[in-house]
Amino acid sequence: MHKLLEKLSRDHRNLEKILALLTTQLDNFFAGKESNFDLIIELMEYLEAFADQGHHPQENLLYQVARKRIRGHDELFERLARQHLDLAALTRTFRHSLEGVLHEAVMSRAELETQGREYVALQHLHLALEDREVFPLLDAELTQDDWDVITTNMPKHDDPVFESPDQIRFYNLVAYLEREE
Ligand SMILES: [Fe+2]
Repeated sequence: MHKLLEKLSRDHRNLEKILALLTTQLDNFFAGKESNFDLIIELMEYLEAFADQGHHPQENLLYQVARKRIRGHDELFERLARQHLDLAALTRTFRHSLEGVLHEAVMSRAELETQGREYVALQHLHLALEDREVFPLLDAELTQDDWDVITTNMPKHDDPVFESPDQIRFYNLVAYLEREE
């Protein structure tokens, strides 16, 4: 597998770790058990700062090049672009809803839970589609010239938790992951 796809796959494993952590915290929160609300907010902030603003723009460039080169998959590449937009909107919406809970905004627990569960489910579906269908297709079809174009134009974006941990912005999350190791 091309090293860029390996890097994006590593991002996916990290994102799955974040989603698993988010699910556990939400399970506890919605069951009325002890949960770490600061950690939940940081998880959402990480998904916005990294998945939506770092990882997805890199994949978007990859898919733009791939779409021109690999015929007959327009519908797939349109779906991926649409999912990136939908996920970014859902991240923002759910994060705002969670913050609203802190400020006692009027939203039922059931409504909040539905929003959170749908968000996590779409993230999983999206990652699975890329891991199972899209990355293997790109790995098989793209040429060295394609990869050169992609690598040259790739927007740079460090992962603020797994690559260059921002101990202040993601205080709870970085500390949690360190304890886990
Ligand atoms: Fe993606």
